[in-house]
Amino acid sequence: MMAPADDIDRIMAVMQAAFDPAYGEAWSRRQVEDALLVGNCHYRIAEVLEEPAGFTLSRYGFEEEELLLIAVSPDFRRRGIGETLLRDCKADAKLRGARQLLLEMRSDNLAVHLYRQSGFVEIGARKNYYRTPSGARLDAITFACPL
Ligand SMILES: CC(C)(COP(=O)(O)OP(=O)(O)OC[C@H]1O[C@@H](n2cnc3c(N)ncnc32)[C@H](O)[C@@H]1OP(=O)(O)O)[C@@H](O)C(=O)NCCC(=O)NCCS
Repeated sequence: MMAPADDIDRIMAVMQAAFDPAYGEAWSRRQVEDALLVGNCHYRIAEVLEEPAGFTLSRYGFEEEELLLIAVSPDFRRRGIGETLLRDCKADAKLRGARQLLLEMRSDNLAVHLYRQSGFVEIGARKNYYRTPSGARLDAITFACPL
């Protein structure tokens, strides 16, 4: 899905505000642009009073959509924006023919509460996949939500 430069600006504004730099999980502008050039990546942006508040970036594969990133700027959290973005991402993915939405997260990410509440169930784990700023290792947990 091609994205106008304005939309990349909006995504990057949220990206820079939302991710803890200690984990290095935020994507660079180049990574976002490259992903959106490929054609099977899609995004949604949530705005509040024309200010970018959150976004999702996802990739469609055969009958599956993978949620690559979801982020809401700290100023706009706990207002249901993440939940709405997930709901929209699921609806879009279903229209593209996906039968499930998959995602992977660091095992200590509080986003787990949002995912569980939104119908995701844990389907697997990669042991010691992430390294924390203190050098500890954390599992990557894979979640799936049927569409
Ligand atoms: C995870 C994230 C997207 C949630 O966005 P949000 O807009 O605040 O989420 P919502 O307001 O829609 O939350 C819906 C529900 O999820 C749960 N939830 C969301 N964030 C939570 C948190 N930090 N702690 C506990 N529960 C949480 C709650 O049940 C919440 O409902 P409530 O506020 O009525 O209690 C946001 O915290 C974020 O951008 N985090 C940093 C980026 C990140 O780690 N993304 C995920 C990995 S890519």
